[in-house]
Amino acid sequence: MNKLTPAQAAALRRDPIRHVVWREDRLDVLDQRLLPRRVVYVSCRSARDVARATADMVLRGAPLIGCAAAYGMALAARRGRLSDVLRAEPVLRRARPTAVNLMHALDFMLDVARSGPESTLSARMNEAAERYRRDDVEANARMAELGAALLKPGSRVITHCNAGALATAGIGTAVGVIRAGFLSGKIAHVYPCETRPYLQGSRLTLWELMKAGIPATLITDNMAAHLMKTERIDAVIVGSDRIAANADVCNKIGTYGLAILARHHGIPFYVAAPSSTVDLRTPSGDRIPIEERSAREVVEVFGTPIAPKGARARHFAFDVTPHALVTAIITERGVVSPADGAALKKIISTR
Ligand code: MRU
Repeated sequence: MNKLTPAQAAALRRDPIRHVVWREDRLDVLDQRLLPRRVVYVSCRSARDVARATADMVLRGAPLIGCAAAYGMALAARRGRLSDVLRAEPVLRRARPTAVNLMHALDFMLDVARSGPESTLSARMNEAAERYRRDDVEANARMAELGAALLKPGSRVITHCNAGALATAGIGTAVGVIRAGFLSGKIAHVYPCETRPYLQGSRLTLWELMKAGIPATLITDNMAAHLMKTERIDAVIVGSDRIAANADVCNKIGTYGLAILARHHGIPFYVAAPSSTVDLRTPSGDRIPIEERSAREVVEVFGTPIAPKGARARHFAFDVTPHALVTAIITERGVVSPADGAALKKIISTR
C-alpha cells in the first residue's frame, strides 16, 4: 500500500466529528436523528438518559452504543455506590438487542466496578470509560490501516448503512478503511447505499464522506445490482453489529443482499469490525437476536405517509450474512480471510 505519512496516520486517530463529549457530570451526544439538517447535542446526565438516547436512536452504531454505555455506567457510579451501578446495568443492557458491543462494554465496566472499594468507584469508572473510548479510537485506526492494504489502487467501492465516525468513537469501521484508502490513493470513489428505511447511508454516511472530501455518489439500495453489472465496482465494505463464533456477520438490513450480489459479480466483500463486535458465545448467525423496529419507520418518511393508511409492514433492522459470502473480516487484531470460525477465534483469543 502507498504508505501513510505520520500526519495521515495521526489523523486516523482523531475524532473527525466530536459527536460524543464527556464532561464527567454528563455525556453530550450529537443527535443523529436530526442530521444532516441540524447539528444539535443532547445531554445525558444519568445511565437512564444514556439508555433512552440509545433506544431512541439519538446515538447509534454498534461501537458507539458500547462506548456510550460505558459512560452511562460511569454516570451511575458518581455517588460512589456499587448498588447504583448494579441497578443501572440492566437498564442499559435492554436499550437495544443486536449490537453486542453494548454487552461487551457493560461486562467490562461491571468488572471494573467490582474490582475495588466504593471510595474509588467513581474515579475508576471514569477512567475505565475513557479507556474504553480510547481503545475504540485505536481499533478504528488499526482496522483502517489493515483494511486499506487489501484494496486495489483507485478502487470504486460500495458501503451500506453508517459504519463511520458517527457509529464509533473514532474514524469508523468500514468508513475508517475508506478514509485510510482515500488518503493512500486506494479509494477513488464511494457509493453509499441509502439504507432504507432509516436512511443512515444518505443522512449520515454521505454527510461524513462529503465533509471529508471523499468523492461519493448516493445510490438507493435497489441500484446496487445494476451498478455492479454495468460499471466497475472493486469492493463492498461494511461494518457489523455482531459476528458469531462461526464468522457469520450480522449487520444493517440489506447487507445480506449486497453480499449475494457481490459474490454473483465476483466482487470482494469486506467486513470491518473491532474485536468488541465478535461474540464467541453465540455459535452461529441464526442465534443472533434481530431487532424488529416500528413499522411506522417503513410506512412513513419523517412523519409523511408513503403507504396507504392502515398498511401493514415489517421492519427488520438487521440481517445475517453467512460467513461463506465474506471475503475477509478486518479486526484491529488482524485480518481473517477467508472468514472462518476457527481463524476468527484464534485472532480474538490471542492478545
Ligand atoms: O441501527 P443502527 O443505525 O445502529 O445500525 C448500525 C449498523 O448496522 C452499522 O452498519 C454497524 O453498527 C456498523 S459498525 C460501525
